[in-house]
Amino acid sequence: MMIDDRQIAIWRAETPGCAHRVHLNNAGAALMTQRVSSAIRDYIDLETTAGGYEAAELRQEQIAGSYAAIATLCGTTPGHIAITSSATAAFVQAASAFDFQPGDMLVTSRLDYTSYQIQYLSLGERCGVNVVHAPDLPEGGIDPQGVRELLRSNPRCRMVSVSWIPTHAGTIQDVAAVGAACEEFGVPYHVDACQAVGQLPVDASALQCDYLSATGRKFLRGPRGTGFLYISARALERGDRPLYIDMRGARWSSPGAFEPAPDAKRFEEWEFAYALVLGLGEAARYAVEAGIERCGGRAHALAREARERLSALPGATVLDRGRHLSALVTVAFKGRDGSELVTDLAARGINTVATLRWYGMLDFDARGVESAIRVSPHYYNTSAEFDLLIAALEEILASG
Ligand SMILES: Cc1ncc(COP(=O)(O)O)c(C=O)c1O
Repeated sequence: MMIDDRQIAIWRAETPGCAHRVHLNNAGAALMTQRVSSAIRDYIDLETTAGGYEAAELRQEQIAGSYAAIATLCGTTPGHIAITSSATAAFVQAASAFDFQPGDMLVTSRLDYTSYQIQYLSLGERCGVNVVHAPDLPEGGIDPQGVRELLRSNPRCRMVSVSWIPTHAGTIQDVAAVGAACEEFGVPYHVDACQAVGQLPVDASALQCDYLSATGRKFLRGPRGTGFLYISARALERGDRPLYIDMRGARWSSPGAFEPAPDAKRFEEWEFAYALVLGLGEAARYAVEAGIERCGGRAHALAREARERLSALPGATVLDRGRHLSALVTVAFKGRDGSELVTDLAARGINTVATLRWYGMLDFDARGVESAIRVSPHYYNTSAEFDLLIAALEEILASG
């Protein structure tokens, strides 16, 4: 899909950070547009003059607009969206809806996000959950048929949870095929869409998931401190609710009882950074206007170019595997520490991030990787910025 230079210049002009840095850390946190930061600033000004609760009252319509924008992004309606402070907070709310018993099984992928792997271990320790990593396909990424076989052989599987795009690798996992397996066996399914939202089109019902969690700050280009959770009609009808539901999620209806909210609000917390909610809504609107498919397509094309050019550098190994690759490029340099390389690049005005062995231990240990750098372009980046990255790395690598 061709995007002309004029369009790229507009996107860059609407992104103040482009004038200051070569920002290739969109998988960490992308640069916000002026529209997003103005929405946040305007609301903070209103809170300053009108009062916190009163500002929320005055901006009810705009706040509702944020839910509508996120719902559009996920192919659903606002009643299925809970706004949270991060993707992890969204996942934890969803996971706490399950009363895991000793011996219950949770199936996940070998590439799943670091914090979730830790949380699965914690579930194992505290609740006796048997955490099983589904096998990978030979080319990388979860094998949906492997998930199907696990579900067939173990009726005690309570949940399947898969990172669509992992944090430490460029793989795009086939979450739709895993969803079909979960549907076949009636097992609740969570999709971690944290790195996917803003990069891939999302149709939550087509994925056949019960829950889908995401963050605001990555490819969606929203503010830090935001995330959201999609909850399916099936999960709401089943009566799923978080363990530590609060007075936003429920009404205290009599001294001994409470009534959960009928919709996704059940999964929210009372206290809210409304300024950020408005920023998140603005980011979702901007993403939809810019076009997820064409922007994601450009980010993927830039990532392909980055892989090609980085792999030509001395000692470089591009680590990304899989049938379909995302905008996350992970590259290790023989004998070089990823964190040091990132610091050296930052000193030259280039933002990247280090990926360490323990971020993706199951994957990296099999390949003997200790550390790498992650380069994650988005659609507003350019090949000219890669020229600067490559020149900087050539200089850093030559200096020993
Ligand atoms: C694949 C993946 N899932 C989940 C998360 C968690 O997102 P958050 O930091 O918003 O909780 C991240 C963050 O890097 C991630 O890369």
